[in-house]
Amino acid sequence: MSKKPVRVAVTGAAGQIGYALLFRIASGEMLGKDQPVILQLLEVPAEGPQKALKGVMMELEDCAFPLLVGMEAHGDPMTAFKDADYALLVGSRPRGPGMERAELLAINGAIFTAQGKALNAVASRDVKVLVVGNPANTNAYIAMKAAPDLKPGNFTAMLRLDHNRAASQIAAKTGKAVADIEKLCVWGNHSPTMYADYRFATIKGESVKAMINDQEWNANVFLPTVGKRGAAIIEARGLSSAASAANAAIDHMRDWALGTNGKWVTMGIPSQGWYGIPKDVMFGFPVTCENGEYKVVEGLEIDAFSQACIDKTLKELTDEQAGVAHLI
Ligand code: NAD
Ligand code: LMR
Repeated sequence: MSKKPVRVAVTGAAGQIGYALLFRIASGEMLGKDQPVILQLLEVPAEGPQKALKGVMMELEDCAFPLLVGMEAHGDPMTAFKDADYALLVGSRPRGPGMERAELLAINGAIFTAQGKALNAVASRDVKVLVVGNPANTNAYIAMKAAPDLKPGNFTAMLRLDHNRAASQIAAKTGKAVADIEKLCVWGNHSPTMYADYRFATIKGESVKAMINDQEWNANVFLPTVGKRGAAIIEARGLSSAASAANAAIDHMRDWALGTNGKWVTMGIPSQGWYGIPKDVMFGFPVTCENGEYKVVEGLEIDAFSQACIDKTLKELTDEQAGVAHLI
């Protein structure tokens, strides 16, 4: 094993997503089977969560993962993020039945201001940040704004769960394999307003739109199913999605770090003005990744239905931004 270990900070490490995430990072599923990792785990400093975190660390030890070369428990982001190469910001309050993600803004906004500041002060200058904690786009925006010395483009929000959900729904509708779906994307906010767009998608070179050929299904079944899937899972489980969220976080970071071989994926990233989205809005875009960098797929035609969907999710994001202006 010759690669230098990298430092991976994970917040909310004793939570339910943490429990589904850490073992997969330590086994090499996120950064590759040849990449040693040091886990820097953050939990709230209270005795209960710290004790639970110790328990998770005992289990990580008991797995004897060859790639796990170090592990630390922290109660303060200023130590947890020290020299971090990757930071997965999961820790925050999840929503319960009947709550909208936006209601979490007030509760969770303060956490992401403090964590953005800490990343700014102590993380690697190239740290790749993924915000999972909801409302993920606006929390990522808050953290990015609190970290003026880091590259804004290195702050990202998780839209990958929506992307994967959309892929599964399309596979079920067409009867084709999910692995064969290419050129799918999800625009906008990780919320029911997100716009999952299969107009450009192909399966073995064939157009998914032509295969489905049902705009009524798109507008009235597909989009609401993907958009409200988080709420449906909360309703069914009594808890928000955890294993699928952890899986999406692994997919997002793996693709960003190791590349997508030309395949489109969706990442929430600060806009540089692409597709008319104002600068800095943390928005889901189709991207490809190569050499540790993402690149937006540009030049796609936006028809009237898509523009209306994009405008709606953008409005929600700019409203959320206005709601946290006092934190910036
Ligand atoms: P959870 O309550 O099981 O775990 C959250 C953990 O974070 C807890 O252990 C808590 O002590 C810890 N925590 C809270 N504040 C913290 C802070 N300031 N620093 C460090 N740790 C802190 O929740 P969960 O199910 O793991 O979900 C975590 C978040 O992820 C929620 O906001 C949830 O809504 C969100 N989520 C996002 C997506 C997505 O697709 N973006 C998907 C699923 C869940
Ligand atoms: C999800 O989409 O499953 C998560 O964002 C959890 C939630 O609150 O919906």
